[in-house]
Amino acid sequence: MSDAPVLITGGAGFIGSHVVEALLVQGQSVRVLDNFSTGKRSNLKPHPQLEVLEGNVADAAQVERAVKGCCAVIHLAAVASVQASVDDPLGTHQSNFLGTLNLCEAMRKQGVQRVLFASSAAVYGPNGEGVAVAEDTPKAPLTPYAVDKLASEYYLDFYRRQHGFQPVIFRLFNIYGPRQDPSSPYSGVISIFIERTHRQQPIWVFGDGEQTRDFVYVEDLVQLLIQGLQQAQPTHLPVNVGLGRSTTLNQLLAHIAKTSGTVLPSVTHKEARSGDIRHSRADNQRLQEHYQLPGVTSLDEGLSRTLASV
Ligand code: NAD
Ligand code: UD1
Repeated sequence: MSDAPVLITGGAGFIGSHVVEALLVQGQSVRVLDNFSTGKRSNLKPHPQLEVLEGNVADAAQVERAVKGCCAVIHLAAVASVQASVDDPLGTHQSNFLGTLNLCEAMRKQGVQRVLFASSAAVYGPNGEGVAVAEDTPKAPLTPYAVDKLASEYYLDFYRRQHGFQPVIFRLFNIYGPRQDPSSPYSGVISIFIERTHRQQPIWVFGDGEQTRDFVYVEDLVQLLIQGLQQAQPTHLPVNVGLGRSTTLNQLLAHIAKTSGTVLPSVTHKEARSGDIRHSRADNQRLQEHYQLPGVTSLDEGLSRTLASV
């Protein structure tokens, strides 16, 4: 570990705050750059090795100040909702694409080379639906969110070839766990279902509930991000972060009922969301080749830890 801080953009958010905590435990200094649009100050406990900067990744000067003196960057700042990007392509583009480019320029100027990037399974669109999606599956970025993630990947690769960057690109499948914010209708489905179960408010399932996702517990992802930070020669190829495990929403609800030990509130089926991917599951062979998979947290264990946090 270096004495210089690791910069975590979006560090006050769901995934970011878990990464911050894990790095501080390892004795690593951390600097967070966050505009607190969805992230919260209360997600970050004060710590002598933690510096928190309020700022926007779309502002090049603020990004330059944040990158200065850092040894590496974990770039998580983005509007994480796919639907938000559909509703406001120009607004979300500032965070989801310009933010990445600002970061690349700031890193180039200051000689920082290692950058981890939270890309998304959304870059595949519906391609590979029904089978496990490998990284070389043709891309179908059907939403502004997916376009910005894929363009960010390509820019990071340009800076690798041209300027010697060491990008680590993770295409995340569906991450869940404590501190995932359930407050928007477009929040992660597990955070919404758990919050509604806790408050005994009605649950809505879009479609028949037989759509599947490959859910990954946030702490398992954090272990992989830390490996990506610390590996001497990480692969520059994008890596799927999924477990290759399919869970339908109907199964998910049954797991929540079992682990919470409560009766589920009323469940209403609504029309499927337009553009919703029906089946999303990772082929994670590349992940297994290049990373040591942590002891994978079972869905029941992950759900019970998430339930305990609300
Ligand atoms: P989140 O909303 O909790 O975290 C995003 C953080 O970025 C928040 O703290 C927010 O305040 C901050 N932010 C947003 N725009 C910013 C800006 N312009 N400048 C500075 N800070 C800004 O969401 P999350 O689930 O923790 O997502 C983290 C990253 O992982 C995102 O890039 C998201 O696209 C990606 N991702 C998440 C998932 C998932 O299942 N959660 C899956 C694939 C990819
Ligand atoms: C999620 C992430 C996205 C990431 C992608 C990668 C969030 C908010 N979205 O998108 O950032 O890039 O995974 O795989 O973290 N649903 C309901 N009822 C609800 C809410 C959702 O039925 O109240 C359904 C949705 O219609 C969808 C499924 O649950 O079919 C999953 O939705 P969601 O958690 O929003 O995730 P993705 O769209 O897969």
